Amino acid sequence: MDIILLGPPGAGKGTQAQRLVAHRGMVQLSTGDMLRAAVKAGTPVGIKAKAVMDAGELVSDAIVSALVGENLDAATGKGAIFDGYPRTKAQAEALELLLAERGRALSYVIELVVDEDALVERITGRFTCAVCGAGYHDRFKRPEVEGTCDVCGSHEFKRRPDDNEETVRTRMTEYRAKTAPILPFYEAKGLVRQVDGMKTPEEVADSIDAILDS
Ligand code: AP5
Ligand code: ZN
Repeated sequence: MDIILLGPPGAGKGTQAQRLVAHRGMVQLSTGDMLRAAVKAGTPVGIKAKAVMDAGELVSDAIVSALVGENLDAATGKGAIFDGYPRTKAQAEALELLLAERGRALSYVIELVVDEDALVERITGRFTCAVCGAGYHDRFKRPEVEGTCDVCGSHEFKRRPDDNEETVRTRMTEYRAKTAPILPFYEAKGLVRQVDGMKTPEEVADSIDAILDS
């Protein structure tokens, strides 16, 4: 089953995708993670993408759809979770083609509905383990032992360079202008299911499970 998790920055797409990977064996395809890996590796795509990402703007459709195409065949079996992709009408159309070429089709587009005022706090407080990638938050989810990752025991944590308030505001403007307008495309296909993203991560996960099991 292939699904899209759609929502503004900080809506909880990554949090819910990680849970679906752990509980259902699905594969997370996050274009944000792919782009950050390219930046870290210093590839030509990464060099091009870095300034755009640091500004909170969208990387070109051609680059991200090519990245998804390269990773899609690894995401078979229990299916793919598209996290942060598609983000424009052109990307939505590219994804239709990529899936159709492989005899696949989307089962659901899950829209995480959130109050934007809460998102700035969620994002600016976010940090991750530098070793295993486990996610934490200054207020909502601190490590059980201060300074030590609950999952792998590492003492190294990191924050994303685009997680400052000014860039978050630009990311939200981009979402409203370019990404939210793709919802009608999927509504016309009857694929959209709304989930209240303001509930606790566990409650959001239960709502998503109910949709996937329906
Ligand atoms: P990307 O990495 O996709 O970032 P984003 O969409 O801005 O989303 P985030 O990762 O910030 O948020 P999330 O919804 O995953 O929330 P999370 O679960 O972490 O993209 C980054 C950049 O890359 C873009 O700006 C763009 O430049 C580029 N890019 C990527 N894809 C692209 C594309 N397709 N086209 C063009 N450019 C692209 O949660 C946030 C925090 O809240 C965490 O601390 C978490 O613990 C906490 N939290 C989560 N759920 C809850 C809850 N229910 N209650 C309380 N706290 C919660
Ligand atoms: Zn860790």
